[in-house]
Amino acid sequence: MGFSYNNQILHAESVALTDLVESYGSPIYVYSRTDIENNWQEFDQAFGLHPHLVCYAVKANPNLAVLNVLAKIGAGFDIVSIGELERVLEAGGEAHKCVFSGVAKTAVEIRRALEVGVRCFNIESASELNKIESIAQSIGKQAPISIRVNPDVDAKTHPYISTGLKENKFGVDIDEALGLYQKAQDSKYLSVCGIDCHIGSQITEVSPFLDALDKVLILFEQLKKQDISISHLDLGGGVGIDYAGEQTIDIQNYINAIISKVGAMGEIEIIIEPGRAVVGNAGVFITKVEYLKQNSTHAFAIVDGAMNDLLRPSFYNAYHRVLTVDKNAIGIQSKWDIVGPVCETGDFLAKGRNLSLTEGDYLAVMSAGAYGFTMSSNYNSRTRVAEVMVSGNTHQLVRERESVQDLFAKEYLIK
Ligand code: LLP
Repeated sequence: MGFSYNNQILHAESVALTDLVESYGSPIYVYSRTDIENNWQEFDQAFGLHPHLVCYAVKANPNLAVLNVLAKIGAGFDIVSIGELERVLEAGGEAHKCVFSGVAKTAVEIRRALEVGVRCFNIESASELNKIESIAQSIGKQAPISIRVNPDVDAKTHPYISTGLKENKFGVDIDEALGLYQKAQDSKYLSVCGIDCHIGSQITEVSPFLDALDKVLILFEQLKKQDISISHLDLGGGVGIDYAGEQTIDIQNYINAIISKVGAMGEIEIIIEPGRAVVGNAGVFITKVEYLKQNSTHAFAIVDGAMNDLLRPSFYNAYHRVLTVDKNAIGIQSKWDIVGPVCETGDFLAKGRNLSLTEGDYLAVMSAGAYGFTMSSNYNSRTRVAEVMVSGNTHQLVRERESVQDLFAKEYLIK
């Protein structure tokens, strides 16, 4: 485990978090390189000899160093924008291991992805298929494509991160996909390579994935009958992590269940796109208690980190464990609401936590490696925080804290 106590001080691998705030200030995100590598490798190794590619979903944490660590161990990448594509290339990732997802790829993005030779476009609509075909034609290339099908299964997760229901904007109705595949098959500028599906995020049971896979396999059979051959199935991301002690998916069981269904159809390559499960528990957000304030009903610990730095609690009412970095510190025991300085009632990181706190203490908001920094903003003209990577007993700044000048460096006074 990347984060554990040693002599009552929370450490990232072998480095005390107290040392990191001394070196880099507060707030900061801290990532464990070993955890990131192990998490990705757990997926990769679970496939054994079955052909596969584990494409890390860049949106979960797109820091160049995170991508670099993953590229070095052979990861593929799931990208959703030209920004993510360029990050992957900058970090040493290979275009032919990138699957390009995303609901509305623009012409500029499509052209660039064709130029560098991405592995596959995951198509989200008939119009997008047409656009990709015409751009491929204009530059004399053939675009590899999968259709992202919407299998209409309930992922049993937060409604904002459920994507596989008919009411969600994602993908093509599975019943309409056949027609699109036929069209793609007939085009000189498109080459059919797979079927794609992603049903949601923070999924904690295997059954929704298998329900979706059953529907995908029906389509696979239908395509086969029409002589449309599929070389891979992309089953998306979505494997949940333990935020609050919840039972989550055993990765080996999940992959075994997939392989046993897919294996019956032959040696088809399986692509998966985990994001959260690779980086979520490999990162923490460290914040300092600035002020303690108690009234007749509530105890507030006002910290220097806020909703602009870690949006998940405010946006999804998400639960993150909060630990004191130094358990030696003696403080006031209460049920604290951990709130930030932003002028919004929704600005909280945690509520009602039994902690012993003093002003000046540091808190670790756990499981913050996924959808943490990447969803941060400059709201309230707050500078975005620094990110640090730990490996064994070494640590390295992997993103500088923004300066106040950075905040308005791209703005102009009126002429
Ligand atoms: N593939 C596609 C096409 C996706 O849309 C996503 C996530 C993933 C893979 C990776 O899913 P994961 O393995 O990380 O669950 N901001 C939200 C999560 C949004 C997920 C969006 N799509 C949160 O903080 O919970």
